[in-house]
Amino acid sequence: MDIVYQCSRLEGKVAIITGGASGIGEGAVKLFSKHGAKVVIADVQDDLAHSICKDLDPKSALFVHCDVTNESDVKNAIDTTVAKYGQLDIMFNNAGIMGVAKPSILDNDKAEFEKVISVNIVGAFLGTKHAARVMIPARRGSIITTASISSVIGGVATHAYTISKHAVVGLTRNAAVELGQYGIRVNCVSPATVATPMAKTLLKMDEDEIQSLYSNLKGAVLKPEDVAEAALYLGSDDSKYVSGLNLVVDGGFTIVNPALNMFGQSE
Ligand SMILES: NC(=O)c1ccc[n+]([C@@H]2O[C@H](COP(=O)([O-])OP(=O)(O)OC[C@H]3O[C@@H](n4cnc5c(N)ncnc54)[C@H](O)[C@@H]3O)[C@@H](O)[C@H]2O)c1
Repeated sequence: MDIVYQCSRLEGKVAIITGGASGIGEGAVKLFSKHGAKVVIADVQDDLAHSICKDLDPKSALFVHCDVTNESDVKNAIDTTVAKYGQLDIMFNNAGIMGVAKPSILDNDKAEFEKVISVNIVGAFLGTKHAARVMIPARRGSIITTASISSVIGGVATHAYTISKHAVVGLTRNAAVELGQYGIRVNCVSPATVATPMAKTLLKMDEDEIQSLYSNLKGAVLKPEDVAEAALYLGSDDSKYVSGLNLVVDGGFTIVNPALNMFGQSE
């Protein structure tokens, strides 16, 4: 069997990346664009998004202001993309918030809880729904949602955030089953902590402090680009038979209990 290595793995494809103005989404915008995709940033941070677009080829990068909790904004982002580029191949539901860092459920405020649910769950639902609307007639497409290690374990984030990330795995699985009949794949990517503006603000840590948090895998540091690489795989034809997967990018963090690790750690 011949293996062909491609450096333009998204040539001819069109992608929308929500939350593409910062952090993991920004990394995906740049990587997808490097791999030949036409990229649409759907975000609420207009200035940041415009400055990212300015550094990309103007013929293949576009910003659409879009609050993912607002259905008409999401519909507009998808319709604008199809009007401009003629198709939608990849929907990357990446926008998310961590919410206010209040560990105790007793301090959790209903409005703050609902805000996280709204951006992280409702946003992913609306993105999946409106992407499916244009992908079903095309009989192809890849929908990806950014979940988190909080989609598979408890205790590393707030209640609202953990609930929201478990929920998007459910959305992914249900949508993968329904949309499989149309050739549409639906997956999630679940990173461990990455030193993005969101993580730095919430954890009140700088990049070095975040990078020195516990890691099962020594010698590698998780960067936004690494999560973007996982999304690139899920968006490209390299993953043409992969659907319903929660691709955890955590160096093994969620499969070990360090307190009972019989192999120990050398340092
Ligand atoms: N950074 C981490 O440690 C980490 C770990 C696991 C999962 N995640 C997830 O990764 C995703 C990206 O987060 P990040 O760390 O890059 O954070 P970030 O804050 O750097 O980027 C998030 C982007 O989402 C946008 N956004 C927020 N609310 C929005 C809304 N209502 N509509 C449209 N856009 C909105 C923001 O403007 C921002 O550009 C999130 O879903 C987050 O939950 C992050």
